[in-house]
Amino acid sequence: MEIPSALVDKLRSAQRVVVLTGAGVSAESGVPTFRQAQTGLWARYDPQSLATAAAFTANPRLVWEWYAWRRSLVAQAAPNPGHYALAKLEQRIPEFSLITQNVDGLHQRAGSHKIIELHGNIQRTKCFDEHTVIETWQEHTDVPPRCPHCGGMLRPDVVWFGESLPPEALEAAWEAVEHCELFFTIGTSGVVEPAASLPNLALQAGAVVVEINPQPTPQTRLASYIIRGPSGVLLPELIARTWPNFP
Ligand code: OAD
Repeated sequence: MEIPSALVDKLRSAQRVVVLTGAGVSAESGVPTFRQAQTGLWARYDPQSLATAAAFTANPRLVWEWYAWRRSLVAQAAPNPGHYALAKLEQRIPEFSLITQNVDGLHQRAGSHKIIELHGNIQRTKCFDEHTVIETWQEHTDVPPRCPHCGGMLRPDVVWFGESLPPEALEAAWEAVEHCELFFTIGTSGVVEPAASLPNLALQAGAVVVEINPQPTPQTRLASYIIRGPSGVLLPELIARTWPNFP
């Protein structure tokens, strides 16, 4: 897929850029996307029915073990060239924000720093009752493990269906989007709110919207540039075209 020269020129001179990423950015690292059929042991479960507080209350062991499986997938995975390209982009743009719906921490592992995590991070847990964040826990005593402070059950520190997003993250995301001139939506199906509204907010704020995704999404119609294909190939190409001498 050809990268439009006009986009390359725009990116080269851009001062304020926001990137929104979704599970597609980690697909080439071997982490299954949310709406992809699950494989193996977990094939008969629908992620959307496991990622809720009600599912956890009904069967805490099942939900904990599903997340433990996802954590092990992420631990075995490595950032792909798309993640590294976004870390490079951050170094070239004066005002840059990477808003991610991903909970896998692969952007951090690729060297990105200016990250706004909208949906939490699977590597952390928090107390189901008191919401205290717990960074380390004993995996093998109770399933789910217990909060060291109150004895309540630990759950992953991610946003489940029906829950609110962390308010500071959401506020930071809106602030960045309202001031950007170029907005990329990459590897997200654009069906989960409020992240799904960010491309429209960017457009309203006067930004040029770019979509990178092998498939169309509900936000495609907002984009001035639509680049169809895998982000692990297209993002390194975009960076190489824009800054040919950047190592
Ligand atoms: P989805 O699984 O809904 O969508 C993944 C998107 O990535 C699709 O649009 C694919 O076409 C695209 N894709 C697949 N392979 C790709 C590749 N190699 N390069 C680029 N794009 C590719 O994942 P999200 O949009 O991230 O929320 O899902 C949003 C939220 O829904 C998740 O954060 C999660 C889920 O419920 C919570 O857990 C709160």
